[in-house]
Amino acid sequence: MDSILVKGGNTLQGDIPIAGAKNAALTLMPVTLLSDEPLTLTNTPRLSDIKTMTTLLESLGAEVTSLQDGKVLAMSTHGAINTTADYEIVRKMRASNLVLGPLLAREGHAIVSLPGGCAIGARPMDIHTDGLAKMGAQIDLRDGYLHAKADGGKLKGAVIDFPFASVGATENIMMAATLAKGTTVINNAAREPEIVDLATCLRAMGAQIDGDGSPTITIQGVDRLGAATHAVVTDRIELGTYMLAPVIAGGEVTCLGGRIDLLAAFCEKLDAAGVSVTETDAGLKVALRGDRPKAVDVTTEPFPGFPTDLQAQMMAMLCFADGTSVLEEKIFENRFMHAPELVRMGADIDVQGGTATVRGVDMLKGAPVMATDLRASVSLILAGLAAEGETLVNRVYHLDRGYEKVVRKFAGVGANVERVKGQ
Ligand code: EPZ
Repeated sequence: MDSILVKGGNTLQGDIPIAGAKNAALTLMPVTLLSDEPLTLTNTPRLSDIKTMTTLLESLGAEVTSLQDGKVLAMSTHGAINTTADYEIVRKMRASNLVLGPLLAREGHAIVSLPGGCAIGARPMDIHTDGLAKMGAQIDLRDGYLHAKADGGKLKGAVIDFPFASVGATENIMMAATLAKGTTVINNAAREPEIVDLATCLRAMGAQIDGDGSPTITIQGVDRLGAATHAVVTDRIELGTYMLAPVIAGGEVTCLGGRIDLLAAFCEKLDAAGVSVTETDAGLKVALRGDRPKAVDVTTEPFPGFPTDLQAQMMAMLCFADGTSVLEEKIFENRFMHAPELVRMGADIDVQGGTATVRGVDMLKGAPVMATDLRASVSLILAGLAAEGETLVNRVYHLDRGYEKVVRKFAGVGANVERVKGQ
C-alpha cells in the first residue's frame, strides 16, 4: 500500500485547480439508467470511486466511455438491463445504493446489496426504503440484499416526510420520482449543491422538478427522459480542503473555480478564525490575516450548515489555533478517527462521544500516521504541512477515492509532499 510523505515547513504560493464534485458525479452517473438516450457528463473528477461506479453501471448493462483523460463520461443504457447490484461491487462504495431508485423507476424491480457500514458509521438505508415504499415499492431484506418491486410495475407519486435531511435518500427518491405516475413531494429534503446539480441535469433531460435547494422538492412524473450533456458542479469539499492549506502552512493560495456560495458556513468560520477569503474571477484567494489562526467552535449540520466532510480538515487547522475550539459532529456517529492520529503528532484533543475539544498548540511534530477514512486522510496531510519534520500518511488508497492528483496539487503550490510506493 502506498504512503504519502510530507515534510513540514514550506509556506505555500500559487493556484490549485478544483475538480468536479465526487458526490455530485456519483449521483449523476446512475441517471443514465433512467433513459435509453445518451447522457454525457463533463468536468468529471478522476477518482477511484468513479471507476467503481463505472464498473457497477457496466454490470447493470450501461455503456460508459471515458474521454479526455477521464474528464468526460459518455454513457448510455439501452437494451437489456440487469437489475441486480452485486455485493462484491456495492461493498466497496456506499454510493452504489444510488442505483436503487433509478432501477426501480426504469424496470419496476431491483435487487441491490445493502452497502454495509463503513468506518464513520452504520449508515442504514431506512429513509431511502421508507420513501420508496410510500411510492408503492415492496422492499424486503433477504441475504443482505434489498429486493424491491413496484406495485403494478410502476412507482406512484407520494408525499414523503423525511425524518432527517438525508442526501442519498433525497437523490434516490428524486431520481425514482422522475418516471413515477403522478406527483411526489419530498419534505425535509437535503439542500446540498449536489442535489441542485442532480435536479439541473434531470431537468435538462425533461424531468419536471421544482424546489431543489429548498427543504421541499416537488417532482411531476413524466413518461420518459431524453438525452443531455451536463457539467459536474465544482467539488466544495475539495475546495474547502485546499483553502485550509495556506491557513495551516502560511502563504497565499487561489483555489481555481471556487465559489463562496458553495461553502458559506465554512467561510464564516474561516473569517472568525482570522482567515481572509477573497472571491476573484479565477476563484477563491485565501490567506491568514495574522500569524496564527484563532480558535472557533464548529457544529456539523446538513447544508447550508457546516459540512461534516470538512470537520476533520478543520480540526487539523484548529490544532494550531490560538485558544480552545469545540467541534460537535452531529451527522455521523464515529467521525473523529483522525483525532488520535493528530494526537500522535502532538495535538491536544479530547474526544467525548460526538464532541471533540481541541486546545491549540504552538507546534506539531511529524510522525507516521494511519489514514482511516477519506476525509481523515487528507486532514493528516494538512497537519503535516506545518508539523516539524516528516509525516508519513499510510493507507492512502482512502485518498485516491476522493482527491484527484492530490500530491501534484499540494506540491504545485510549494508543499514538500511526495507519494511513496508501498512494499
Ligand atoms: C452523503 O452520504 C455523502 N456521500 C457523504 O460524503 C456526506 O458525508 C453525507 O452525504 C452527508 O453530507 C455521497 O454523496 C456519495 P446521508 P449519505 O444519507 O447520502 C443517516 C464523503 O466523505 N441515515 O445524508 O450516505 C446516516 O447514517 C462522504 O465524501 C439514516 O439514518 O449521507 C448518517 O448518520 C462521506 N438512514 C446521516 O443520516 C438513511 O436511510 C447522514 O446520511 C440514510 C441516512
